[in-house]
Amino acid sequence: MERMILTPRLACIAALIPRGARLADIGTDHGKLPVSLLLSGRVAAAIGSDIRQGPLDHAARNAAEHGVALPLRLAAGLEAVRPEECDTVSIAGMGGQTIADILAAAPWTGDGEHLLLLQPMTMVYELRQWFWAHGYMIECETVCREERRYYVVLSVRGGGPVRVVPLSSCAFSPALLQAAGARDYLEKLLQREIRALEGMQSGSAVDRAVLDGQREIVRVIKQAWEELA
Ligand SMILES: C[S@@+](CC[C@H](N)C(=O)[O-])C[C@H]1O[C@@H](n2cnc3c(N)ncnc32)[C@H](O)[C@@H]1O
Repeated sequence: MERMILTPRLACIAALIPRGARLADIGTDHGKLPVSLLLSGRVAAAIGSDIRQGPLDHAARNAAEHGVALPLRLAAGLEAVRPEECDTVSIAGMGGQTIADILAAAPWTGDGEHLLLLQPMTMVYELRQWFWAHGYMIECETVCREERRYYVVLSVRGGGPVRVVPLSSCAFSPALLQAAGARDYLEKLLQREIRALEGMQSGSAVDRAVLDGQREIVRVIKQAWEELA
């Protein structure tokens, strides 16, 4: 059977999935991630779930073409997945707020028994802040690059301490600093945050607290970037 080629972003997520996992892929869309993992034998079983029928039809075609069994569920978030059906959950290609909403609506994801592999497209700082505020520990972060864009993939588990952390300390986690490519990623992030600061400084009516918060974000990232040299 023909192998399924994953994009660098999806390949990065696939590499973090434990061998023999029972995976629930939420927002599966084309189903390429679970189909590829089933084909390679890396996972013992996988479920694909999506909020829309069109993507599920696409996933069903991909699974059939590659001859793998991929049960599909039509539902929002984890509504159609029972905790005992999986030990690993992946949610990729969605906004950070949507990812947090999906986890909040399925409190069993915080039980420490499930590994969560999450690849947010936006609001990454806010998502880290949410994890720490809700007892989810960031065990590992990896950085991948697809064309000109960088993505982070977070490997997260519940059952940790609750920590209230200011947003300026959520631009990266200690785990991200260990990742290959962390320095390049931080450099790009620093450039982006400096541009945002300059934009604020040239504006007329920017709140003082917002400006101070942005300065602090730039300072924290710059320090971490320099220390990685
Ligand atoms: C951009 S695609 C990402 C597909 C794939 N996970 C990837 O990373 O390549 C986002 C998918 O998530 C689905 N989706 C969006 N919100 C969702 C939700 N709350 N619950 C389940 N699926 C959702 C969309 O229908 C779409 O198929």
